Amino acid sequence: MAKPVVVFGSFVVDLMARADHLPVPGETVKSDLFKMGPGGKGFNQAVAAKRAGAEVEMVTKLGKDSFANVCLEMMEGEGMDRSHVFVTDKASTGAALIMVDEHTSQNQILVTLGACSTFDDADIAQVTPLIEGAGILLTQLETNVDAVEKVIDIAHRSGTTVVLNTAPVQPITDEMLRQVDVITPNEVEASILTGVEIKTPDDALKAAQVFLDKGVGQVVITLGKQGVLAVTPQRHQLFGNYDVPVLDTTGAGDAFNGGFVAALAEGKDLFAACAFGNAVSNLAVTKMGTSVAMPHRAEVDAFIAANGLMG
Ligand code: RIB
Ligand code: NA
Repeated sequence: MAKPVVVFGSFVVDLMARADHLPVPGETVKSDLFKMGPGGKGFNQAVAAKRAGAEVEMVTKLGKDSFANVCLEMMEGEGMDRSHVFVTDKASTGAALIMVDEHTSQNQILVTLGACSTFDDADIAQVTPLIEGAGILLTQLETNVDAVEKVIDIAHRSGTTVVLNTAPVQPITDEMLRQVDVITPNEVEASILTGVEIKTPDDALKAAQVFLDKGVGQVVITLGKQGVLAVTPQRHQLFGNYDVPVLDTTGAGDAFNGGFVAALAEGKDLFAACAFGNAVSNLAVTKMGTSVAMPHRAEVDAFIAANGLMG
């Protein structure tokens, strides 16, 4: 049995409204659809990995409020272990205000981390053995970054593979980058973190080289419409998107990351794992919502059987 994937990251409630255009500052726009659902980059990635077939342990933090139940109920429904979910009375469960343009399917998000910005040393001490015993630690920058630094350090020192999704982008130290086995920024994050302007996959390759030079093991840059670029010191490969009806791209990166680590946990190499994650994210964008839109393994396998793998 493969060792579990530990996801250390955010849970927030997504409050999503869709309209025929996104408001400019000062404008009020009528929306034709509102949905509330479980979200947060960490949680979305955990659900994607679990549905893709991985054994997942989710570490997150909630307030003592009704939004917390949105997390706990979804976890129960998904058969996810809730024993590493912290609860605090010092902060509310996080929330995200998501606006989706129904024509372009682009989104704008304001996220309040709430409880997920309050991970402290006592929390980290409690999950240290879990991280040390994991095959992979998947984490993001949607919690307080000092806690991310600590969990990455624990994973790195115990031989747990560290996958860092750099969303939402924050300044990170070179010391932390040296402990990362696989970094998975999108093109905007990669550009900010490396200083390389990214318009094309060739630009992304240059940015990837900057990460490799800083000591990151392997680099995966998600490029939206242009697909996904995977880079190791020896080799690189671009995975294009499938021709699917795109409904909502919110959480597409999370779908990719979850599918990607599920495949890594099965022993696939970086490139095969990217091809799999790419199929997962291409399925997720055909549905509204974030964690609820993550495809199950049977669906992914059927999709790959029908359409092949990209790359
Ligand atoms: O990546 C998408 C997620 O980012 C949403 O679920 C929302 O919670 C935001 O944090
Ligand atoms: Na979606």
